[in-house]
Parts: sequence; structure tokens; C-alpha cells
Amino acid sequence: MDTSDFKTVGYSKTTLTELMIPTYANFGGKVHGGILLSLMDKVAYVCAAKHAGNYCVTASIDSVDFLAPIEVGELVSLKASVVYTGHSSLVVGIRVVAENVKTQTSKHTNTCYFTMVSMDEHHRPVQVPGLILETKDEIRRFADAIMRKTLKKDQRKRLDELKTPMAVENYMKLLQNERCVINK
Ligand SMILES: CC(C)(COP(=O)(O)OP(=O)(O)OC[C@H]1O[C@@H](n2cnc3c(N)ncnc32)[C@H](O)[C@@H]1OP(=O)(O)O)[C@@H](O)C(=O)NCCC(=O)NCCS
Repeated sequence: MDTSDFKTVGYSKTTLTELMIPTYANFGGKVHGGILLSLMDKVAYVCAAKHAGNYCVTASIDSVDFLAPIEVGELVSLKASVVYTGHSSLVVGIRVVAENVKTQTSKHTNTCYFTMVSMDEHHRPVQVPGLILETKDEIRRFADAIMRKTLKKDQRKRLDELKTPMAVENYMKLLQNERCVINK
């Protein structure tokens, strides 16, 4: 294996810090989830493009759980690093922390994973440099990403198996005891 173009995790580590301004708020006064998603996409792109040395696109975003609301006036930091490299894809892990500068308290509000694909000038996926793992955490994160990838593949396969023979009666069974009515 030619590892001459491999890069360390530190090489592309990126932090984006942004002040949560009033126009980011929803009617409840908290920051819109969409604002955070947009910031996450931005930092994922910077981190991925730096590692890949190429233009990248977002192929998929792992489930995003909002653990705590973010208030206007808080400083939000998004810490991104490459956790896994495949052939043309790589996974960027992002940890989001919101800080109240007055009280000097901070809270972890999200962690999520973006799969980005490196593209050539003809918009075709192109190989990314591999990753040089230097710490136990980096090794663990790389292995975790492989497990998430395998689980996602299994989950898709299982869902397809469940859906294929699923007739209307089966859907009806699933809907039993759920909070919905059929009005047709
Ligand atoms: C992502 C995209 C480039 C993949 O193209 P493709 O023709 O399926 O390419 P490939 O099958 O060769 O896959 C390329 C890599 O992407 C990965 N990939 C493709 N779709 C994926 C998905 N949904 N989730 C995770 N990885 C994915 C493949 O596993 C492969 O990884 P590898 O090279 O490391 O093994 C293409 O679907 C695309 O251009 N999507 C739109 C991207 C975009 O516009 N994003 C912004 C949306 S707002």
C-alpha cells in the first residue's frame, strides 16, 4: 500500500465558532435546528476538502440528535475532524458545544457524522488520501465509523426485506395502536 499521500487527523482538524444572533432564533427564542445543520455542513466541507485536497460533496448525514437547546447570545463551536477514510469517501465527525460567555458554562449540544465524497473536475468520485492514526481515540473513532457503516448497510437491507412483500394489510397492522386515522 502506498501511504505517501496519507495525512494525519490533525492536518484537517477545523473549528468554526459563531455567535448566535437574534435572526437565528425560532418563535420560542431558541436557535433554529436548520441554522446548526447549515453550520455543520460548512465545517464538514472545510475539514473534508482540506484532507482530500479536492472539492467534496455531502453524501449523507448520520442521525442528528439535538441534545439541548441553544440560546441567542451563546457562542457555538463546531469541532470537526476526519474520523474515517474510504476510497473516495471520508467521514467527518463534528462535536457542537454552546458556550454562555457570561456564566462561562458550556454544554454539548450535538455530535454527528457527515460522509463526504471527494470529486474530480468532471464531477466523478476520486480517491482520498488515507488517514494516519496517532492516538487510541483516533483508532477507536476509525473502528466506530466502520461499525456504523456496516450497521447502516444491514439496516437498509433489513428494511428492504421487510418492505418488499409488505402488502396493504401489513401496513395496516403496523398502524394499529398508532396515533393516526385513515380518512379516504
Ligand atoms: C455522493 C455521490 C457523489 C455518490 O456518487 P455515486 O455515483 O454513488 O458514486 P460511488 O458509488 O462511486 O460512491 C462513491 C463513494 O461514496 C459513498 N457513498 C455514496 N452514497 C453514499 C451514501 N448515501 N452514504 C454514504 N456513503 C455514500 C460510497 O460508499 C463510495 O465510497 P468509497 O469510494 O469510499 O467506497 C452522488 O450521489 C452525488 O453527487 N450526490 C449528490 C451530492 C450533493 O449534491 N450533496 C449536497 C446535497 S444538499
